[in-house]
Amino acid sequence: MKKIVTVIGARPQFIKASMLSKEIKKYQNELEEIIVNTDQHYDKNMSDIFFEQLQIPKPKYNLGIGSGTHGEQTGKMLMKIEEVLIKEKPDYVLVYGDTNSTLAGALAASKLLIPVIHVEAGLRSYNKNMPEEQNRILTDHISKILICPTDTAVENLKKENITENVYNLGDIMCDSVIYYSKIADKTIVLKDNIKSLYGKNIDINKWYLTTIHRAENTADSKKLQTILSVLEELDEKVIFPVHPRIRKFVDELNEKNNYNNILFIEPVDYMTMLYLTKNAKKIVTDSGGLQKEAYILDVPCITVRDQTEWVETLENGYNVLAKPDYFELKQKIENAQINKKFEKKHYYGDGKTAEKIVKVLREE
Ligand code: UD1
Repeated sequence: MKKIVTVIGARPQFIKASMLSKEIKKYQNELEEIIVNTDQHYDKNMSDIFFEQLQIPKPKYNLGIGSGTHGEQTGKMLMKIEEVLIKEKPDYVLVYGDTNSTLAGALAASKLLIPVIHVEAGLRSYNKNMPEEQNRILTDHISKILICPTDTAVENLKKENITENVYNLGDIMCDSVIYYSKIADKTIVLKDNIKSLYGKNIDINKWYLTTIHRAENTADSKKLQTILSVLEELDEKVIFPVHPRIRKFVDELNEKNNYNNILFIEPVDYMTMLYLTKNAKKIVTDSGGLQKEAYILDVPCITVRDQTEWVETLENGYNVLAKPDYFELKQKIENAQINKKFEKKHYYGDGKTAEKIVKVLREE
């Protein structure tokens, strides 16, 4: 029996874990998974609703870390995860993505000489100012097994001399998009819920969907104001589920500018988000996950960043990068269009990444 401790803590990690944990459970005689939730995301809408809706196994440990500066948050996690690992003595520690929970899990394990499995290894923006880039690089360099989502990610690791135990198994988020978007489609109640959410009926393809939360766009409220002023002038309503990190700024700007075209709502559950994505006219975001979901679901996306780790999405107009500059952003949103002349390449896999990861875990 192999014992795996999985460390998760932020919203996108709950989504990824829901697919892999279900698959691991099928091999209960060979694999035991213990889930540790750092509670980096702790609001009901950022955490609990994901555990419920996606039927993620209950964590054995909830560390209750919550918010803080990066050092404080990561440091507290490191101490508590170490305690768990000393007690549980797992064969492997599994981490996802690039958050502070990822780095803390990997570092705690590495110091105890427990092999680390990094799912979503090898991504690079080549912008070291991003906390996520720091987390990715450090985690990759202390991982024993590196599960990459794309060939680009494998190549990125090669450039850093990481070539052993590197696998391209596709993107685990592609599994969840394929699996849950079908369920979301069939759930009529959900559609009614969405309509009542806004107090009016909005026709499919008649909204833009936006999420903005990265430090680079929100640390300076001028940038956020520029982005909102562009959204305010678009030809259809804009649905904006607001991350709690920017709630205060959004409320202040809304009070000052009284936006009519933007519907600021609380963060939504995963299936509602997939529904809103799939049926949106266009997406405007700075999220890594949403860029890819838009690509998989064939919705044009405008990413308000200077770089993207998901470079494949930039082909054939699926995704375009834009600075938070009024004229550039406005023009890029208006012009965004997928070039359907070319056959779409399925860079992110076939929705069977979880199965492939479990195969590696069983054979390692
Ligand atoms: C984190 C990840 C980011 C990922 C995002 C997904 C890092 C460095 N960044 O960013 O890569 O894209 O999660 O959503 O780990 N807050 C709440 N309630 C919550 C969660 C956060 O109020 O449930 C507020 C707090 O004020 C907190 C702030 O949001 O200080 C930022 O949260 P934090 O977890 O530090 O980073 P994210 O911005 O969510």
